[in-house]
Amino acid sequence: MRLGLVVSGKGSNLRNLVEGGFDVVAVATNRPSCGAASYARERAIPLGELSLKRFSSEEERDAAMRDFFASHRVELVVDAGYDRIHTRPFLEAYRGRIINVHPSLLPQFGGRMDAVAQALRSGVNVTGATAHLVTENLDAGPIIAQEAVPVMEDDTEETLRRRIHEAEYRILPEAIRLLEARLAESPAVGQ
Ligand code: GRF
Repeated sequence: MRLGLVVSGKGSNLRNLVEGGFDVVAVATNRPSCGAASYARERAIPLGELSLKRFSSEEERDAAMRDFFASHRVELVVDAGYDRIHTRPFLEAYRGRIINVHPSLLPQFGGRMDAVAQALRSGVNVTGATAHLVTENLDAGPIIAQEAVPVMEDDTEETLRRRIHEAEYRILPEAIRLLEARLAESPAVGQ
């Protein structure tokens, strides 16, 4: 399926999907200076630079994101390190077709940006990564794939994050394939 990625960070999941042969037809970002945006430019993937300051509200920005993806005939959206919450105009257009990847075993350490630091602070010896459907309920949409990741005694945030990323590179492609298979059995967008 034609994938649209929404990114704000380094872009290693974006890179992993592109190199894994996924059909990434458009990338939208709220942070045009992020590493993921640079990677999209390098690969000549159409990039929607949608900083909030260009719009009068989040809804207006999200309507522009929806229109940008629609113009590239995006069928499935992947939030790969997006640090904002989608508002209604976007959620409604892509309901049931947005996957997010989160660096913990949801529902543990959900709803916040610092799930890796939280895992370290809490003293758990297992955390992980989750790919789930995005709904209005932050980090609480149906789970598609998860992988547990051990926390080592001498882990720093950086070493743990790296190990979690490795799990993400496996579960995000898996979740996309699973959702693609499910959607292939249902009518396409707009039909
Ligand atoms: C990932 O850890 C993801 O779980 C979280 O943001 C990070 C994005 O990393 N939502 P990258 O930009 O793909 O390298």
